[in-house]
Amino acid sequence: MKTIIISYSYTGNNEALAEMVAKELSVKHYKITTSKPMTMVTILLDMMFSRVPRVDPLPAIVKDYDIVLFFGPVWMGQTASPLRAYLNNLKRNSKPYGFISISGGADGGNPKLAQELLKRTGNPPVLLLDQHLSELLPVKSQVTRKETSSYKINEADLMQLTKHTLEAVKGIL
Ligand SMILES: Cc1cc2nc3c(=O)[nH]c(=O)nc-3n(C[C@H](O)[C@H](O)[C@H](O)COP(=O)(O)O)c2cc1C
Repeated sequence: MKTIIISYSYTGNNEALAEMVAKELSVKHYKITTSKPMTMVTILLDMMFSRVPRVDPLPAIVKDYDIVLFFGPVWMGQTASPLRAYLNNLKRNSKPYGFISISGGADGGNPKLAQELLKRTGNPPVLLLDQHLSELLPVKSQVTRKETSSYKINEADLMQLTKHTLEAVKGIL
């Protein structure tokens, strides 16, 4: 299957994973950039008002591929806003897709992700893999949102996350 990876990353975690997976699978990888720079304020406004930022490359980039693998963070329980234009585009131009994330996980997972993906694209993802930073941090009674949101994955984390992601992705390709 002709596969394309499209990633967005604000602090680098999902980009690092997407890059490794693209390299291992030898597939094309596009990194999303937004026409206006993302800040904590624009993130909050996007999530509160369901805004869809302008992005590059344009969503039509996926048309020549059989399956799209999206990589990006979860913000306030939802897919990061720079991914939205691509997800919304799949509603008009349906094709199999997966959503893979390194998210914080401090609040016990992101139970509404599957529902959001279905709503945006019209179809459930063939793969939904939400991997949590809270599981990489030292074990203690309570991992806080502040700790997970500022955590940058290290080399060992990246190896572990890549291995896990490749196992899951190979199951659908
Ligand atoms: C504004 C904001 C909101 C976030 N909300 C969530 C959330 O609801 N659930 C979650 O698991 N992680 C949440 N996170 C944590 C990010 O998903 C996590 O830090 C991720 O690894 C960042 O990915 P990136 O480095 O690719 O940008 C949030 C982070 C930010 C900055």
